[in-house]
Amino acid sequence: MHLHRAEKIWLALGIGMLVLFLLLAGVSAFAYGLGTPGSETGAHDSTHRQTAQNVEPQVKQIGEREYEVSIVSYIFGYKPEKLEIPAGSTVHFTVTSSDVVHGFAIPGTNVNIMAVPGEVNHFTQTFKNPGKYLILCNEYCGAGHEYMQTTLIVK
Ligand code: CUA
Repeated sequence: MHLHRAEKIWLALGIGMLVLFLLLAGVSAFAYGLGTPGSETGAHDSTHRQTAQNVEPQVKQIGEREYEVSIVSYIFGYKPEKLEIPAGSTVHFTVTSSDVVHGFAIPGTNVNIMAVPGEVNHFTQTFKNPGKYLILCNEYCGAGHEYMQTTLIVK
């Protein structure tokens, strides 16, 4: 088979670029550890990940004036039922849902967390002033949506 000189040049360029691309992809994957999402270890290691299934509904003191409040929402309410913290506390909210998408919003504060089944969302807020804080569901979740609420008591 006879190849024209120009054809040989273009063929060589094409093969050269293919080899160069595969080399770059190979070097970045193995030498720099680049890969597709989810292929990395560490932060996505399932043994370290807090899953929606193991969110235990509770109010837990984790430091001086520091609380961890874990919420599991359901149609149509929130667990745990009693939420009480002293004034001046910083609260780390952990929110998930056991059924459909709900909201977890405290009007008058910056707390507005989506409660998504299978996912865990976090938000931190400090409550300086004592009072009864209304907590509302602001994602339409069914017939009882408008009655879905609870109260955070800051003493
Ligand atoms: Cu739950 Cu709306």
